[in-house]
Amino acid sequence: MTENFSVKLEEAKYYTPEVRCREQSWMGNYNKTYQAFLADPDGFWDNVARELEWFQPWSRVKEWDYPYARWFLNGKLNITHNCLDRHAHNQRRNKVALMWRGETEDEERIYTYRQLFQAVCRFANGLKSLGVGKGDRVCIYMPVVPEQVIAMLACARIGAVHSVVFGGFGVNALNQRIRGTNAKVVITADVTYRRGRAIPLKNIVEEAVVNAPSVERIVVLRRDTDKPVELHPEMEVDYYDLVDGESRECPAEPMDAEDPLFILYTSGTTGAPKGIVHACGGYTVGTYYTTKHVFDIRDDDIYWCTADPGWITGHSYGIYGPLLNGATCLIAEATPDYPTPGTWWDLIEEYGVTIFYTAPTAIRMFMRVGEEWPNRYNLSSLRILGSVGEPLNPEAFEWFYHTIGKDRCPIVDTWWQTETGMHMLTTMIGEPMRPGFVGRPIPGVVADVVNRQGKPVPPGTGGLLVIKEPWPSMMRTVWGDDERYRKYWETIPGCYTAADLAVKDEDGYIMVIGRADDLIVVAGHNIGTAEVESALVSHDAVAEAAVIGKPDPLKGNTIKAFVILRDGQQPGEKLKKDLIYHVRMTLGPIAIPSEIDFVQSLPKTRSGKIMRRVLKAQEMGMDPGDISTLEE
Ligand code: PRX
Repeated sequence: MTENFSVKLEEAKYYTPEVRCREQSWMGNYNKTYQAFLADPDGFWDNVARELEWFQPWSRVKEWDYPYARWFLNGKLNITHNCLDRHAHNQRRNKVALMWRGETEDEERIYTYRQLFQAVCRFANGLKSLGVGKGDRVCIYMPVVPEQVIAMLACARIGAVHSVVFGGFGVNALNQRIRGTNAKVVITADVTYRRGRAIPLKNIVEEAVVNAPSVERIVVLRRDTDKPVELHPEMEVDYYDLVDGESRECPAEPMDAEDPLFILYTSGTTGAPKGIVHACGGYTVGTYYTTKHVFDIRDDDIYWCTADPGWITGHSYGIYGPLLNGATCLIAEATPDYPTPGTWWDLIEEYGVTIFYTAPTAIRMFMRVGEEWPNRYNLSSLRILGSVGEPLNPEAFEWFYHTIGKDRCPIVDTWWQTETGMHMLTTMIGEPMRPGFVGRPIPGVVADVVNRQGKPVPPGTGGLLVIKEPWPSMMRTVWGDDERYRKYWETIPGCYTAADLAVKDEDGYIMVIGRADDLIVVAGHNIGTAEVESALVSHDAVAEAAVIGKPDPLKGNTIKAFVILRDGQQPGEKLKKDLIYHVRMTLGPIAIPSEIDFVQSLPKTRSGKIMRRVLKAQEMGMDPGDISTLEE
């Protein structure tokens, strides 16, 4: 897609929450706070950082050497000290920190802050006994279980850099990510459960570590503790054996604010996925601040973010942000419609969830199955609703607002990215909400919609969404490939370009339309066309492949593939099934094409680049635009 479009702005329709929402919120008046930030940006962030505990204070808030920012210089802290010790050693010690629910009702575990602190310390000591130390990379490939959270926190406790890989990824995707970071240890489980089926994770890890020589040990969590799992003694170690006898205390490693905290891979438009690097200080401050203010979180809230901790949303708002705020968090290994489309509503009723943060895809799926499902449950505990990952279209907004929020709960549609680490745009609690528009930059963020020259575009005219000033939780680099980091800041001079198309209204509210590049957002997950194409081409029958995103009412987009077969290969349904299976095993189920067309040729530029936009225009019956570079 390009930014040459305009949107007819109809008369603005706003929902205005009750005044008490604003008057009683942590932030209070949005405009006032935003102006205070603009008047003294460093002073603003300095005040936020002071709400946390540091082992050594910073000497300067920020140093900006375009395009590199350093935050809280010389400050020393540990995010887990702020997530755990700060609460476990005072009046929140017996407060519930984490509630976990498995796929079935009888699978439940609850940790108070004191218990979570101890579990993290024990596992951190276990990791140390394997020789893991500050700066070592640890790959976490696990189902949504408390130990996934414990593993992340244990790494952060000792200064090891975690790289969590979503448990739905396949062998190649995992292998690429393990090799990318040279991980020393991989933490996994024997199986993960999905829709009642056990999927063997450990087998996938075993395949993925072949030709990954950096891996010294694999820690295996047994899901069913009664069932023994065969381990290769020289390499594999049982999670429970590892923590057995370890001390429940482990001092938090004092980390420099600029030390890396974690790496999280995100799809790139070309080639390999990018390992986004986040730093200890700025990430802690950014996620603490946004969780507090965007969700207006309180001590008695029951907070549920439905994202898997394997994605950035799970990192920032499933774990770190809420724990930094001393919240009670629910995590669930629950598919929205398994065993019934009432599963999630049942969880909200049962646990008394007050803040519910989810994705538009899920909301649209619930819309489709009908309001009789949520209406069977008592959802009156809900106070605030959140959305993330893709545009929340007005119909989905209305449904979420009326059917789930019963016209009482403000909706925070939050725009941000793996790269930004924290929320960037939203409609702060108490501000009028405009369906279809995420809202405005949160105080602390300077964003705009501009043309390729970096000039702001008038309301209604399409442009690129950019961030104009550094922010604490911005990515620091792309692991091992700083060139790719600089690209974010070079597309439009002076700005961080998010590669999202957007449009502003007269009030400065921003509507995010979709990606401006070759990323496809399927059900809220970013998938690179290049990744899917290379998975297809790695199949023996395929000579060439091109994939495009096709708009879909439920998932936002689906993947359509165009495939040229090698000579002698027979197109047909059987081969389509083979290809789909192949992509599932290589990349994982999220990257599977919904449609495959066998074709004789692909539109290419004279220099041989596939012109996906021509394929897309053809598919949608639209004008392909400028095709002067198309080869004969
Ligand atoms: O295209 C935007 C879309 O998701 C992209 C970022 O994806 P990822 O790094 O995987 O992080 C997803 C969770 C933060 C963005 O470039 N996106 C994210 N949130 C929204 C959105 N699009 C529209 N509205 C949103 N609220």
